[in-house]
Amino acid sequence: MSLPTFDPAGLEPRSATDELRERSPLARTPDGTWVVLGHAEALAVVEDAESFSSEVSRFLQVPNGLDGAEHAAMRAATDPFFGPEEMARLAPVLREVAGGLVEELLDGVGAAGTEIDAVAALGAVFAVRGQTAWLGWPAVLEPELLQWMSDNHEASRSGELERTREVAEHFDAIIRSVLAPRRAAEQDAPEDPTTALLRLRVPLPDPEVPGSTERALHEEEIVSILRNWTGGDLGSIALCTGVLLHALAHAPALADRVRDGSDEEATAIIDELLRIDDPFVSNRRVTTCPVSLAGHEIGAGERVLVHWTSANRDGRVFPDPEALDPAGNAERNLVYGAGPHVCPGRPLATLELLTLLKALLSAADVRPGETPGEREIAPVGGWAHVPVVLVPRG
Ligand code: HEM
Repeated sequence: MSLPTFDPAGLEPRSATDELRERSPLARTPDGTWVVLGHAEALAVVEDAESFSSEVSRFLQVPNGLDGAEHAAMRAATDPFFGPEEMARLAPVLREVAGGLVEELLDGVGAAGTEIDAVAALGAVFAVRGQTAWLGWPAVLEPELLQWMSDNHEASRSGELERTREVAEHFDAIIRSVLAPRRAAEQDAPEDPTTALLRLRVPLPDPEVPGSTERALHEEEIVSILRNWTGGDLGSIALCTGVLLHALAHAPALADRVRDGSDEEATAIIDELLRIDDPFVSNRRVTTCPVSLAGHEIGAGERVLVHWTSANRDGRVFPDPEALDPAGNAERNLVYGAGPHVCPGRPLATLELLTLLKALLSAADVRPGETPGEREIAPVGGWAHVPVVLVPRG
């Protein structure tokens, strides 16, 4: 049986996949990449990291682009940065950041409210301020990081390798400007996750020290980790904010539940809204051996794209993909991935989104804006712009 062709150019990821997936859980792009659209198939791929390698880029990507024991060692060393203690330390810091931003947006606003773009004015600014507060980076970096986010976004949209490389190099320069003074300050460097990364020992042998079982991170590894944390955080938090605000502006009763409900209830609603409209569209793999998927034989060395947005709307698993069922669908929700590469930043992403929504909704009612907003198109998901009106609550 020949597979349908997946050509998402100019389409937003949901409409590019909804109808196609019901015909086949697997498709191929015109250049031969296998696109995994079904939920069961996406799980099968990401849980079999031996057959489906994450080493897809010629650039060092820690931990994203690593496999096997090296990947496991890097995850073991870096996952604690998102542990419960670290999140508890961060919670009041993020509350202050969110509260301050909401206050700025509502400053001098009367009963008629004010219209803002939830992606640019709320999500992107909060993502940058939350990120710099978490990592201990200077607040003066805010305009540069916001500009970088926008350049990075345009580069991903363009698909041009040269542009992507330039944007990545710019980001590396920002990171090195943060690392250099910390290295120079040695023991006097501020105690924050960035300094902790400089001092981190990973459970991997040091080739220079025979018999060793751990070593420090190399400069390129630190830069790569910070790039992946920041890349994971900034763009996705801004896009998630757009998706959430769009949904909540159109469902005031749901917004009430997020504002007044427990953190657990609000988090479950957030996760479920992101399942329905997942802006973190896809990740790549490459096969290491011949492998069978959904009845098709895939050779070794073939490119594979796991399409999370599609898998999260698979009618075989979510009979009505558009229906909101936070408790019922939680277990099969793939917004944060699965398998050994499952998102380590989930506790941080959850804390950020929850804190922002609670701060905003307790200060303002959110209504749809005058204009309908603009969807992103492949390879980016979610919304490019979400106009919403913020009406201060009495
Ligand atoms: C709402 C926001 C986020 C979403 C939807 C999201 C989603 C995902 C998904 C689906 C993966 C799996 C990738 C794969 O299988 O190849 C992943 C991996 C990853 N995420 Fe997130 N993420 C988010 C936020 C964050 C944040 C805040 C951070 C860190 C600050 C982060 C850091 C990472 C890293 C480092 C990986 C790679 C893990 C590995 O390869 O072992 N993410 N994320």
